[in-house]
Amino acid sequence: MIETELLLLRPITGKDNKQVFSYRSDAETNKYQGFIPKTIEEIDEFIAKNPLEFNQPESWFQLVIIEKNSGEIVGDIGIHFIGDDGFQCELGCTLNRLHQGKGYALTAMKITIDHLFRNLNKHRITGSVDPKNTNSIKLIERLNFRKEAHFKESLFINQEWVDDIVYGILKSEWKP
Ligand SMILES: CC(C)(COP(=O)(O)OP(=O)(O)OC[C@H]1O[C@@H](n2cnc3c(N)ncnc32)[C@H](O)[C@@H]1OP(=O)(O)O)[C@@H](O)C(=O)NCCC(=O)NCCS
Repeated sequence: MIETELLLLRPITGKDNKQVFSYRSDAETNKYQGFIPKTIEEIDEFIAKNPLEFNQPESWFQLVIIEKNSGEIVGDIGIHFIGDDGFQCELGCTLNRLHQGKGYALTAMKITIDHLFRNLNKHRITGSVDPKNTNSIKLIERLNFRKEAHFKESLFINQEWVDDIVYGILKSEWKP
């Protein structure tokens, strides 16, 4: 568990399904993401796939972001532990539309990145963003990730070919 004054991050559990479904099923908010569940069963499957342990090679691990004051789940962070050597990760973040614009994603991403670099000795962290996803680009640039590549129509998401911008940051570049 990782926490700040306002937020708590913990692994997703089966009991979170309704709250997570409420914002993950919002097709407008999630239009740049491949996963937009239509039924609660799809969220149940998504949660069931979460590994039992953090930091497993070639896994995606899902954390929920909880607003401490209300106890409400305001969003989630997905961490892709890339490869077998354990030195690189990819991050994704989704917030409930009602809780965007408050700095929650920035805070939650900062403490996650800090944990990955400082406590788990990761070497490089990346983020993959659709160039039309301006909120996500603002977030990743506020976190001081560098733009490393722009792939043209490299992903087929929601029935169309879309561009993909890859951002990266090294442990040596991270300033918490
Ligand atoms: C990407 C996403 C998580 C960003 O969320 P967000 O709330 O905009 O991001 P932040 O936490 O950085 O908040 C920044 C905004 O809060 C405002 N803010 C208010 N109080 C703040 C505070 N205390 N600290 C920092 N920012 C604050 C900022 O001014 C900024 O507003 P602006 O964008 O109008 O300039 C969100 O848009 C989202 O969930 N999108 C859908 C899912 C998605 O596409 N994810 C990306 C794919 S991985």
